[in-house]
Order: sequence, then C-alpha cells, then structure tokens
Amino acid sequence: MRSKYKMEWKEEKIIAFRSALIDWYETNKRVLPWRENTEAYRIWVSEIMLQQTKVDTVMPYFERFMTWFPTMKDFAEAPEERILKAWEGLGYYSRVRNLQAAMKTVVTEMDGVVPSDLDGILALKGVGPYTAGAVLSIAYAKPEPAVDGNVMRVISRILEIDDDIMKQKTRKRFEAALYPLIDPEKPGEFNQGLMEIGALVCTPKKPMCLICPLQEFCEAHKVGKEEAYPVKIKKTKVKKVFLSSAIVQVGVDQYIIEQRPDTGLLANLWQFPTVELTENHETMKLAFLQQYGIDLEVESEPIAHVKHIFSHLVWEVDVFAAQAITTQPSDLKLKTVTKAEMEHLAFPVPYQKMWQAFLKGETIQ
Ligand code: ADE
Ligand code: SF4
Repeated sequence: MRSKYKMEWKEEKIIAFRSALIDWYETNKRVLPWRENTEAYRIWVSEIMLQQTKVDTVMPYFERFMTWFPTMKDFAEAPEERILKAWEGLGYYSRVRNLQAAMKTVVTEMDGVVPSDLDGILALKGVGPYTAGAVLSIAYAKPEPAVDGNVMRVISRILEIDDDIMKQKTRKRFEAALYPLIDPEKPGEFNQGLMEIGALVCTPKKPMCLICPLQEFCEAHKVGKEEAYPVKIKKTKVKKVFLSSAIVQVGVDQYIIEQRPDTGLLANLWQFPTVELTENHETMKLAFLQQYGIDLEVESEPIAHVKHIFSHLVWEVDVFAAQAITTQPSDLKLKTVTKAEMEHLAFPVPYQKMWQAFLKGETIQ
C-alpha cells in the first residue's frame, strides 16, 4: 500500500496550499449566522449543532437559540424543558444536555471563559477532538485541526489517504496529516476553508475539480480517481423495532402523553403512549392496558405508519387514534394535556410526524 500521506510536501508547496485555500475561502465563503463574529460561545453552539445536521437546517435553529439564550449564562441557567424545546427536531438530544452541562461548568468554575487550550476544552462534557479543534481554531486562532466528514473527504482525495473513515482511529491519521499543513496565522479560515470546499466543491459525487482551488495539489484528481475516496466500509444492517403508538383522546381536547425515561434514547422527551407491536387489535388493547392501565376504544386500522431512522436502529410505528374509556390513568409518568399545552413540550420527530398525521385525519372528517 502506498502511503503518500507521509508528509513529503516542501515548505513552498505548503505555503502555496495555504494561500490557495484561504484566498478562495475569503472570497467564496457563505454568509452564515455563526460567522458574524467568533465569540467562543457561538462557535461552540454552532459546531455542536452542525455535527449531525446540515447547514441549511441548522441556520434557523442557531438564530433562535441565540435569541432565546443570548449569553452562555442564559443557556447554562435555562430549564431542561426549554433547552430541549430549542433542540426539538434536531435529534441527538444528548448533544444539548451535554452542552448545557459543559457550559454550566464554564460559567460556575471558569468565570464564563471557555478554555483556550486543548486539554482544558477536551475535559468538558460532549467536547471531542472535532469540537475542540473547531472552537480553538475559529474562536481562539489556535493551530488545531478540526476533522469532520467533509474534511476527511477533501483531504483523503488530496493526499490519497485510503484508510477506512468509519474506523475511529482514522481521524488521528487525518489530524497528523493536517498539523504540518494548517496555517498558524489563520487556522480558523484554514479549517473552515476545508469544510467549505467539502460542502461546495469537493462533493461526495461528481466533485467540481475544474473550479477547485486545490486542484494542482490533489493526488486523486491527477489520476482521475476522486470518487474512490474517501474509503468507507459499510456497516451491517441496523436493527428494526416495530411499535404501536396511540393518540389517546380524553374528552374533547385532552390527550394522553408520557415522558420518556431520563436515560437512554430520546431521554426525557415526550411521546404518545407506545407499546411493542402486537399481532392484532385485541392484543394491542391488552398491551396498552397492561403497560399504562388505560382502557382504550381504538380503531382497528392505523391512521398512519411512521418510519424513523436513528443512527443505530429503525423504528416502524403504526399509529392509532383512540379514546380513553378510563379517564384516570394510573401511571404517574402519564399526563393529560390540551393541544395548546402540547406546543410547549418537546416531542421527538417521529412523534411530531404522528401528530401531524392525526391532525390531518381530523380535518378530513
Ligand atoms: N460544518 C461544521 N462546521 C462548520 C462551519 N463552521 N461552517 C460551515 N459548515 C460547517
Ligand atoms: Fe476535490 Fe477535485 Fe478539488 Fe481534489 S481537485 S480537492 S477531488 S474538488
């Protein structure tokens, strides 16, 4: 196996690479809300949001987040329900809980100043090497690499790095390759330049090599093998979970909801009562009775089917419309709310889809 990424670039080539990248970035960068200024709080929030979510989706969330929590202290002191609401729909909710835990530490133990050294920032909850590198380089101009999927794609092509990017240890390879390249004067621009090239030019399919400012440095382009990189070995299939959820109406405008346990998947978010899928209508009623102590009058056909893909499993949910026969649920986790009250609570995306399906059905009748 050739290992071209043992850095063999001369100093002049490295300098030429930096200026090609940074000049391009400075004239072509997108105007994004987190680029208005480089306050560490804003950069940190944006980088956490951007980790598993696309730029277009993140933008309105980021703007609203900054309106709700203008300072780190505002966010650190906000109630959990509020921070979950701010994140509702972004998924991976542990991100926002960890962010708050870490920011509480910064506010209470560090005078509100985000650490500007690698060890200090890595010690904070939810801050891994990527976030650390992004915050240090963008907010504090420290020459640290920030290796995410986009950066791995671009660098794997430029240097023909053929390590499997699904492997944990591969990120270190990329960091090692980037340390000598990163511009010590403008590390934030350098890192964001790579992210921006990845997003706008060096796309997964059909990269736009003809307009790429890095073309003359790119080994994969030289041999016409751009799309052979990055090397990504597919994992085996994710597990499927089959569920039945019921939107249970009590009286005219009251619905039964339940808070999820405070640990595990989607912890503390709200949902409609849900049981593992049962073979038929009667056993489903029984399952709801056993699990929740609510006796349901439920239509035999689901009103919708919702599929939701998490990183490690897939939910297949049949959604039923039901009326409660017993109106006093015995389970303490259950709560009865109006539509208006529901608006203020955070529901995971699959449950939002169910609610939309239910409302749609309602207006048709
Ligand atoms: N993706 C991750 N971080 C980013 C940033 N700072 N700008 C644009 N896209 C990004
Ligand atoms: Fe990507 Fe092509 Fe540019 Fe190489 S030349 S970095 S493959 S867009």
